[in-house]
Formats: sequence, C-alpha cells, structure tokens
Amino acid sequence: MAYSSEVYSRAKRIIDERRSLADRDANIKKADVYAKYPAVRDLDNQLMREMANFTMLMLRQKSEPDEVLSSMKAEIDSIQQKRSEILSANGLPSDYLEPHYTCKKCDDIGRKNGILCSCYKELCREEALKELAASSGSAACSFENFSLSYYVDNGVSDGTNPRRKMQNYYNFCINYANEFSAGSPSIIMMGKTGLGKTHLSLSIAKAVIANEKSAFGVVYSPAQKLVSELEREHFSFSGTDFAMRKYTECDLLIIDDLGAEFSSQFTTAAIGNLINERLYENRPTIISTNLSVKELTERYSERTASRILGEYKRLLFVGEDIRFLKNR
Ligand SMILES: Nc1ncnc2c1ncn2[C@@H]1O[C@H](COP(=O)(O)OP(=O)(O)O)[C@@H](O)[C@H]1O
Ligand SMILES: [Mg+2]
Ligand SMILES: [Zn+2]
Repeated sequence: MAYSSEVYSRAKRIIDERRSLADRDANIKKADVYAKYPAVRDLDNQLMREMANFTMLMLRQKSEPDEVLSSMKAEIDSIQQKRSEILSANGLPSDYLEPHYTCKKCDDIGRKNGILCSCYKELCREEALKELAASSGSAACSFENFSLSYYVDNGVSDGTNPRRKMQNYYNFCINYANEFSAGSPSIIMMGKTGLGKTHLSLSIAKAVIANEKSAFGVVYSPAQKLVSELEREHFSFSGTDFAMRKYTECDLLIIDDLGAEFSSQFTTAAIGNLINERLYENRPTIISTNLSVKELTERYSERTASRILGEYKRLLFVGEDIRFLKNR
C-alpha cells in the first residue's frame, strides 16, 4: 500500500507549488528584462522561430542534408551568443531568464522517466513523519533519546537484570525497524504504564518511515481512537470503508495502549477482526498494552488473545514509571 493517499497528494502539492513559483519568478524577470532591454525580446522571438524550424526539420521523414542542419544550428548558437552578451553586459548570468527549479533532476515535476523522483520520495517521507507526529501528538520519541539509564542495572527477584533486558529489547527494536519488511513479525509490548512502550513503538514507526530504501506506510493509533473511527464508520451506514482499509491494509499498524479503549461488543469484535485479518494477510502489527496476559484473555475473545499471545513476539517491559523518574 505504501503511504496514504493524503501523503502523496500533500507531497505533490508542494512540488507543484515549487514549479509554479519558479515559473512565475522567471516570468516576472522576463517581463522586467524585456522592458529594459528590448533586444533580448527580439532575440528570444528569433530563437523561438529558429528552434521551431529546426525541430520541424528533424521530425520530417526525409533527412535533410547535413549542411542545412548545421547552418541552422550555427544560427541558433549565434543568437544565443548575442543574447548572453547583452545579459552579461548588464551583469546578468546567461540562464537568468530560465526558471530555477528546486530539483534539477525532474524540474519540479516529481517524476523522471515515469518513476518517482527522489525529491518526491523525500517529501513523502517528510509528510509521513508529520502525519505520524500529528497522530501520536508527539514528535519527540526516537531511538536517539531513549535512555537505558532509567532501568536499574542489577538483578531482581526473578533473576532478570532490568537494564540488560531493556537493552535487548532496544536492540531488537532498532534491528526490527532497520530490517522491516512486509514479512516482519508482529510485536506485543507488555508492562505497566510509563516503561517506554509508546516511546519505543513510535521510535520504530519513525525509523521505518525515515528509511530511504523503502516506502512503507505506517499507521499509528491509540486503541481508543482506532475503535472510535471504526465505530463511527460502521454505524454511519455510509457504505464507505476508508478507516477499515487504512487499518487493515497499511504495511505496519501500531495500536497503542490496547485495553484503554472503551469496551463494547463492537470494539472487542472490531479489534479481534483487525488482528486476525492482519495476521492472515501477513501484515505486521505492533501492540502496546498495560494489560496482563490474564486481562487480555478476559477482555478479548479466546481466539484473539491466543493469537496475540501465540503469534506475536512478546516484549515484557520492566522498571519503574519513567514519567515519575524524570520528575524526581
Ligand atoms: N527509556 C526512556 N528514555 C527516555 N525517555 C523515556 C524512556 N522510556 C519512556 N520515556 C518517556 O517517559 C514517558 C512515558 O513513556 P511511555 O513510552 O509513554 O510509557 P508507556 O507507553 O510504557 O506507558 C514518555 O514521555 C517517554 O518519552
Ligand atoms: Mg503508552
Ligand atoms: Zn525531483
């Protein structure tokens, strides 16, 4: 699926704007130069006629004698020469009247030989990151500012060293993001509140989007927002399935804080269907939740819970509430 259609159209709008600004700018300069130096206008008109003739000859079936073509070429060169001389005598570079496009590769068209230009891809990534920041309400979470110092570095009763454990998870997540593909496993991040589950899942989202080698569509949503959207769509009887498709078809779906959503027959069924559908289609999902295994099983259907617990890679976050640690 790659990016959402909004991402593509926003990026395209920026490119179109760049091009029309460059064209407008060139037209303003042209009008100005023509008014000041009418000889430049005359040369431009002459040049246009010569070029048109030349193109017409080139397109004709029967080939022209070489001398005709080369004399026309010489004429064009000489007009261009005169034109540059006038411009240069007035302190202007010879390409002064050309539009100055932001992207030299595609002249701000966004495509080159039928494929997306790198400038278009770059803008899509930027727009996708903005979309992520808007949907998560936080642009700040990244691998770079995830610190292991918040997790104590000593053994606890069950024998695990929190810092070492979190270090492993951190490395796993970085690796996961770097190597993300359509066949990547799904992940469930479990643990109490404030342990960095949202932070790490957003870090993955950001890194997957920022990856220049690919163009994966990542959708992040708190569980509450996701079910509200699905509910609104379902009960509006509009016949549209825009939200449903966004969540089922994106390359990577992140459901944050599963269990915090208002629970109803509809919401548990919707989440169950979404999870099953994505597993069935082999599309990775990352879930974060404060629910325990027992709560998860009680809240969702047996089938849903067992699929999450059986088929997702489970990360059991440990430590103390980092919001609290930060404010100490
Ligand atoms: N390892 C960490 N390093 C730096 N900040 C962190 C870390 N873990 C969590 N935080 C920050 O602490 C706050 C709570 O973390 P969050 O990821 O929301 O926890 P959870 O989703 O597990 O409840 C957030 O502001 C987050 O950015
Ligand atoms: Mg969270
Ligand atoms: Zn380009």
